[in-house]
Amino acid sequence: MRVLIIGSGGREHALACSLAASPSLTKLYVAPGNAGTALVAENVQIGVVDVPALVEFAIAQKIDLVMPGPEAPLVSGIADALAEAGIRCCGPTAAAAMLEGSKSFTKEIADAAGVPTAAWERFDDAAAAHEFVRRKGAPIVVKADGLAAGKGVVVAQSVEEAQAAITAMMEDESLGEAGASLVIEECMVGPELSLFALCDGLTAIPLGVAQDHKRVGEGDTGPNTGGMGAIAPPPFVTPALIEHVMARIIRPTLAEMHARGTPFRGILFAGLMITEHGPKLIEYNVRFGDPECEALLPRLQSDLLPVLIAACDGKLDTVELQWKNEASAVVIMAARGYPGDYVKHSKIRGLDAAGQVPGVRIFHSGTEMRGDDLLSSGGRVLAVCGTGADLRQALARAYQAIDLIDWPEGFCRRDIGWQAIMHE
Ligand code: AMP
Ligand code: GLY
Repeated sequence: MRVLIIGSGGREHALACSLAASPSLTKLYVAPGNAGTALVAENVQIGVVDVPALVEFAIAQKIDLVMPGPEAPLVSGIADALAEAGIRCCGPTAAAAMLEGSKSFTKEIADAAGVPTAAWERFDDAAAAHEFVRRKGAPIVVKADGLAAGKGVVVAQSVEEAQAAITAMMEDESLGEAGASLVIEECMVGPELSLFALCDGLTAIPLGVAQDHKRVGEGDTGPNTGGMGAIAPPPFVTPALIEHVMARIIRPTLAEMHARGTPFRGILFAGLMITEHGPKLIEYNVRFGDPECEALLPRLQSDLLPVLIAACDGKLDTVELQWKNEASAVVIMAARGYPGDYVKHSKIRGLDAAGQVPGVRIFHSGTEMRGDDLLSSGGRVLAVCGTGADLRQALARAYQAIDLIDWPEGFCRRDIGWQAIMHE
């Protein structure tokens, strides 16, 4: 099997490591990749949204499977273009990727499928949105309908805060087109959980559950980031909870998408809140999370490649996944200044020693080689994954490895997984 992964982060490095271990792999490319993916695959200098160039490459190289990492190529229609070329793509069509591209679309699907989610309304008009918020009161959640790179959600604790968000998104166009319409919804309370499911259009199988750490600072303070760490699985999750989410949220969504003629294939990432009335859907993404992927894949015992192929070929009903009985934790090392302006091209040493810690894998999120030097090339730079018998051991191993990494310009949160352990 000849495989092309699209993306350049830790998620794609983790995918590349899993696929590189498959006995049925014959060639692996990553476009554009990073210094980590170059160790297990051949990097190709094509950008993630250059759909025509990616498809042309896949045809010329007789690729059997394309695995997109981020949502951008999916929203841009890479699955549609590859289908026309007769090449498998483990990701949704542009129509099905609307589950990530539009919040109101997801809410409509959820309502039609009977999926529990926060009560909501959509607004194209600022005056009506202001009036709604005045009537409902706070707390209340204001969301840009379109893709807003993680900046489109305000959980407002007061009516004034909600109104400021409406003004910024709709009237001041702070998020451009993404804020042209808004979803305003009921504020839910409870622990958050992400569930990942692999889907073939009709069948979905769980790939695991994880908790992300979005804020840059310890104790969940400071600005939002792409994610500073993840644990999988959170200790409170039971097999019954996973089955409940599959039965009440994932499968009804899949059935509704199929009934509408836009079946969902690929990885469905459900952001959930475990409320006192049970799990409710916050949002969907149409891809693996980063860093959740780096925490989930090291737990997988089964060969990943035939499973992704089965998802593309509509044969997931024949797949039974085997998992290691281990906990997993990922701690992100980022360049100082992230998520604002960060230090660039600083030298990283000590990865070989850090990678020797038992149960540890180091995935590259933003790195490049210059001569013999490994340099940072992004905000999030390394994803250090520890696995162990329980979450404590997984975390201890990840931090033991981090302490061996010599990178003065880097930092990490020291409290990843701490809340989960406190509540164990
Ligand atoms: P989203 O981009 O939709 O995942 O929202 C980002 C974050 O905002 C979520 O991870 C939640 O912490 C929070 N959030 C979103 N919707 C709600 C809601 N209805 N109630 C409470 N918190 C929410
Ligand atoms: N870590 C969250 C995401 O990938 O969207």
